[in-house]
Amino acid sequence: MTAKPLISFSKIAEEDLNFLDIDEWPDWQAQFGNSQPLKLEIGFGMGSFLIEMAAQEPRSNFIGMDFYHKGIRKVMTRKKKLQLENIRVAYGDVRIKIPLLFKDGELETVYINFPDPWPKKRHTKRRLIKPDFVKLIGQKLAPGGRIYLATDFEVYAMEMLEYFNSEPLFQNQGPGSGFLETREDLPKTKYEKNFINAGHKIYYLEFTRLGIATPTN
Ligand SMILES: C[S@@+](CC[C@H](N)C(=O)[O-])C[C@H]1O[C@@H](n2cnc3c(N)ncnc32)[C@H](O)[C@@H]1O
Repeated sequence: MTAKPLISFSKIAEEDLNFLDIDEWPDWQAQFGNSQPLKLEIGFGMGSFLIEMAAQEPRSNFIGMDFYHKGIRKVMTRKKKLQLENIRVAYGDVRIKIPLLFKDGELETVYINFPDPWPKKRHTKRRLIKPDFVKLIGQKLAPGGRIYLATDFEVYAMEMLEYFNSEPLFQNQGPGSGFLETREDLPKTKYEKNFINAGHKIYYLEFTRLGIATPTN
């Protein structure tokens, strides 16, 4: 059996109202037509996690952010086929788009699965998770909200742990304020399956957004 071809990126960008290449807050409640909790996946790649989560949790609204055209085409094609009404894809660099698209405290959950590790020393500056980005996520999450992270790259895992543990807005849910060994309640991502098959150790992290006011400046 031959797989159905993916919808082209230009067709999605021009016609699909669930694909958002926007620079301002879209009123998410109006977007989804309801006030279900907003859950954001940062860097969904080929999108299997996003699709599975949206199918499993019809009472939550899922926003995926990425700039990877092939992955976006895949998600939009599968979303259409499965008739999932609770997914939107917001296009672009999350470092630029998150401040523009979300109000403070608007997100219930954030997932960052296997962010690019940039293993070469001269590229480490490109890593997404840095103290300012951690603060930004803290601002956009509601008190009591959660962020889930995963990586197989030990050095980056240690950086994530340090940055989130040092941010007063977050409380680590792992044993001894460290890593979780497994994550059975969430679907496995494409990278996760590949790394597990290759015998890599996976570092899982989970933090709660504490209920203290976001500092304004
Ligand atoms: C290593 S892949 C992981 C994909 C998926 N989460 C998984 O676990 O299978 C990282 C993804 O993050 C996306 N990404 C990296 N930096 C980004 C940024 N600044 N803004 C939006 N997406 C980004 C990439 O395009 C890629 O799809």
